[in-house]
Amino acid sequence: MGCKICKSENKKTKMLPLGLKSPPFSPSKSNLQTNSNSQPSSKLTSQNYKTIEEKISTVPWISQNFETTNIEKIGEGGFGKVFGAIGLKEKKRYAIKYMHFESEEDFDSMIKEINIMSALQRYGNIVKIEDRYVVFDSREIYIVMERGDRSLENLIKERKNKINYELFLQIFSDLAFGLFSAHEDGFVHSDIKPQNILVFEDSDRAKLRNIQNFNVVNKNLTFKLTDWGAGTSNYTGKTTRLKTGMTFTTTYAAPELLIDNENVNFKKSDVFSLAMTMVNCCGVPYKNIKHISSIEISEKFTKEIEEVITMISSEYGDIIKNLLKGMLCFDRHTRIEMKEVIETLKSLSKKQEPIKVIKEIPSNKSLPPNREKKKGRKRT
Ligand SMILES: Nc1ncnc2c1ncn2[C@@H]1O[C@H](COP(=O)(O)OP(=O)(O)O)[C@@H](O)[C@H]1O
Ligand SMILES: [Mg+2]
Repeated sequence: MGCKICKSENKKTKMLPLGLKSPPFSPSKSNLQTNSNSQPSSKLTSQNYKTIEEKISTVPWISQNFETTNIEKIGEGGFGKVFGAIGLKEKKRYAIKYMHFESEEDFDSMIKEINIMSALQRYGNIVKIEDRYVVFDSREIYIVMERGDRSLENLIKERKNKINYELFLQIFSDLAFGLFSAHEDGFVHSDIKPQNILVFEDSDRAKLRNIQNFNVVNKNLTFKLTDWGAGTSNYTGKTTRLKTGMTFTTTYAAPELLIDNENVNFKKSDVFSLAMTMVNCCGVPYKNIKHISSIEISEKFTKEIEEVITMISSEYGDIIKNLLKGMLCFDRHTRIEMKEVIETLKSLSKKQEPIKVIKEIPSNKSLPPNREKKKGRKRT
């Protein structure tokens, strides 16, 4: 496959076939070096560079495809550092995720991240992967993505922990549709949280394919799921990163992941994490349930979830509250699936239609009787 950014077919880059399941070498140091014709690893160690940005700029493939004068770090997670860069050819803004692999397991999990994102390319609510590059010498993987403007975590902070109902619905509907699409295709995310959700401003939704059109209040805003590093296509087993206990963030993780992740249905645990993310958007602090070791926690947990739901402002309405309750069920068998989440969100979209009509009615005409239905919801 040729490079989408530089449009070249025959570049001497370390392109990795997307279907590749494991490295074409044993990840011992000597094999890594003999299998590469890129820069010697000694040149790529951070000691030789003042900043990581400087180091990234010296990777030949980066300097051939991106402006190296303005590479800047824009984010960091447990596995990768993300840099903003401008493409040389198209002058487009990209995000480059840089990851270092220590073991074959690491490598496999990073390749899996690339493969899952590639498999979900066609969905408008999943962050697009544009290219990928591996430097075997220094055990580095670069994933080039479309660049988001901020994370949902930042948006929540900027809005002082409370997103108004209309935008909340758009965020919820976008993410639900992205997750539903992934689940339908047999993929699970396994680490849904505000840090792994990106906000795209000035994105023209009309041009995006496979995107939902319900509850959209701002046509230029799109919310997308990113960081599929903990994801898997086998949603009934453990993921590699779960085995190491490093992946999920306990605040967003379903209780079964904290108790025993042997028999987890990851589709259902995604539903839980999405609901926790949405709870986070409506200004409710959620106590982190730590040290869960037994199923006896069930009662305490259910009570806490009920308290959380009660704390959600009436502005969000009973339908949303009940929906979140269904998504936050302790028992994963009772917990609802994404299909039901989508249905409920779609039904809310229909309920908004009369309000749009009301706006067009001249002020001397009386309002239709169904106005009462929306009482209590703040519109901004
Ligand atoms: N495509 C992107 N555009 C803009 N910012 C991004 C992009 N991808 C990631 N980020 C930022 O970098 C952070 C870390 O990226 P992520 O993929 O979640 O790495 P990790 O696997 O280490 O958690 C994210 O929380 C987000 O703030
Ligand atoms: Mg992340």
